[in-house]
Amino acid sequence: MIRLHEIGKTYYLTKVEIQALRAITLEIQRGEFVSIMGPSGSGKSTLLNILGVLDLPTSGAYYLEGVDITHLRDKELAQIRNRHFGFIFQSYNLFPELTALENVMVPMMYARRPKSERLARAKELLEQVEMAHRLDHFPNQLSGGEQQRVAIARALANNPTLLLADEPTGNLATEQSAEIMSILQRLNEQGTTVVMVTHDPRISAYGKRLVRLQDGVITADGPAERSA
Ligand SMILES: Nc1ncnc2c1ncn2[C@@H]1O[C@H](COP(=O)(O)OP(=O)(O)OP(=O)(O)O)[C@@H](O)[C@H]1O
Ligand SMILES: [Mg+2]
Repeated sequence: MIRLHEIGKTYYLTKVEIQALRAITLEIQRGEFVSIMGPSGSGKSTLLNILGVLDLPTSGAYYLEGVDITHLRDKELAQIRNRHFGFIFQSYNLFPELTALENVMVPMMYARRPKSERLARAKELLEQVEMAHRLDHFPNQLSGGEQQRVAIARALANNPTLLLADEPTGNLATEQSAEIMSILQRLNEQGTTVVMVTHDPRISAYGKRLVRLQDGVITADGPAERSA
């Protein structure tokens, strides 16, 4: 589904250059559940953002379904993002002025789906993450775990082929973390491809494949050890 070929990312600051990623070559197949681990500053978020075309590499090539998308225009990249990718972040990133239901409807608005369909699908998705009883709550009226469940429902709104999660349980207690991970695991079993960044080995164990990053380089890539 995705092939990164010798991707590099350099941040140019006024006095220094930071090489966040160096010659990353990585393939992700449909149906995989990949955990990315590595020390703080090793380039995990940078890599995830490039995978989700939230950010562009400074060298190398990105192939999506065999098509080189490295040099597409912003507008085309935004379309790809909306159509193919769903994002989940450590800090949930819900729109504070919108209810749970409205938050989940937003990506479908960008995809120009009719209002009745948006409403029905948003309700259905919130049911799937057991949030049907909190449709009209605003983010600041929800617990962390509940906000993350809404964020997952929102990420799924346009049926993404790939779900990208950056430390999805980073702000959660053990019990809520397990709930979030069992939702991600179920989604993967139902066919969604998942790529997740974490530095918690108990969380990475939910993945089927483990990629290790160090100083912007992949140092290991293989089947994850399943603890369960
Ligand atoms: N916008 C930016 N401008 C300049 N440097 C950046 C920028 N974003 C990240 N970096 C640098 O790139 C390197 C990789 O950062 P990245 O956020 O990918 O690390 P990470 O592995 O996700 O770390 P953490 O576990 O702390 O989230 C770090 O040295 C960081 O300081
Ligand atoms: Mg990070």
